[in-house]
Amino acid sequence: MKILAIETSCDETAAAVTEGRRILSNAVFSQINIHKKYGGVYPTLAKRAHVEKIEPIVEKALKDAGLKIDQVNAIAVTFGPGLVIALEIGLNKAKGLALKFQKPLIPVDHIEGHIYSVFSQNRNGLPKRDFNFPFLALIVSGGTTSLIIVEDHLKYQVLGKTLDDAAGEALDKAAKMMGLGYPGGPIIEELSKRGSADFLSLPIPMKQRKDFNFSYSGLKTAFKRELEKLPPARINKNLANLAASFQKTVFDSIIDRLESALEETGVKTLAVGGGVIANADLRKKIRTVGRKRGVSVYFPFQKKLFNDNAAMVGVAAYFKYQNGVYLTGNFDKLDRVGRPELGMWSKRELVVSS
Ligand code: KG4
Repeated sequence: MKILAIETSCDETAAAVTEGRRILSNAVFSQINIHKKYGGVYPTLAKRAHVEKIEPIVEKALKDAGLKIDQVNAIAVTFGPGLVIALEIGLNKAKGLALKFQKPLIPVDHIEGHIYSVFSQNRNGLPKRDFNFPFLALIVSGGTTSLIIVEDHLKYQVLGKTLDDAAGEALDKAAKMMGLGYPGGPIIEELSKRGSADFLSLPIPMKQRKDFNFSYSGLKTAFKRELEKLPPARINKNLANLAASFQKTVFDSIIDRLESALEETGVKTLAVGGGVIANADLRKKIRTVGRKRGVSVYFPFQKKLFNDNAAMVGVAAYFKYQNGVYLTGNFDKLDRVGRPELGMWSKRELVVSS
């Protein structure tokens, strides 16, 4: 079964063709250059870029897969979470194609996409990688930091999530405070390699808390205060040390929450996704936790799958279709949702057919 998937939840316009867990094409237009000068995503410009790019990106995904639209069996689309004016563009495109070509429409949650990104495969069906339910999913991106128990396909139990900023967002904001570029995560990673994390002692958010939630606003404020104490020349001289100190604190908090969740649940498989895991230091720390606890740790097989993309949406959609979660004919009930609960549009009985 071949699926054309569309993703426009934030600042990537993306389309992909997948077959089961296999990726046949994965086209992404990143809007980073558009948003760079604003130091963050500028919603109306994001919308405009999605409007301009959606058609060529869908065409590219089909062309790269060597298929015509009538050769795909279903259309999948991200309905949330994300910027509603951005989600809307992908959703309208997907609805239009599903209607015109009489295909089922499969709604996918963006976080669900990040979870399934870990089980995506190349054209040859590799890596094989079993699901091993129940497993723990850790998703660390610009929009979310979440720990989720995946009991079975589409059966999620959110153990913890960010109460304010996501880890990636915190890195982006810290970079902005230091006058660095956007997105801040990769810049902070590069600088950190040359810096000492002992330069500043920052409070590790939520450490030793009984729940599994994340929070970064307190850390952000503490960092801002430390910067205010330093003369500009010292800040400039110590950018690498400041970056290393901030990054270490963010990652220590992720590892602290992760270890508590593994301890509490006793699961032996961990799936990790999201843009921030592009960071080699974070991946190393997570692997170390896995080794220490005898937990198998899986990351997506390709770096492109860490960041927002539509292939992950297509792979998740395949399991939704298998479980009867899709719409045919009447798509009015499906709308974009800025902050859905994970598990929305995951039950067969919610789906109306015309
Ligand atoms: O998954 P993603 O593309 O978008 C969301 O779904 O939010 O993640 C983007 C986030 C940004 O905050 C960016 O700064 C961060 O991932 N990021 C990194 C690195 N590369 C991207 N953070 C730390 N180190 C990196 N190398």
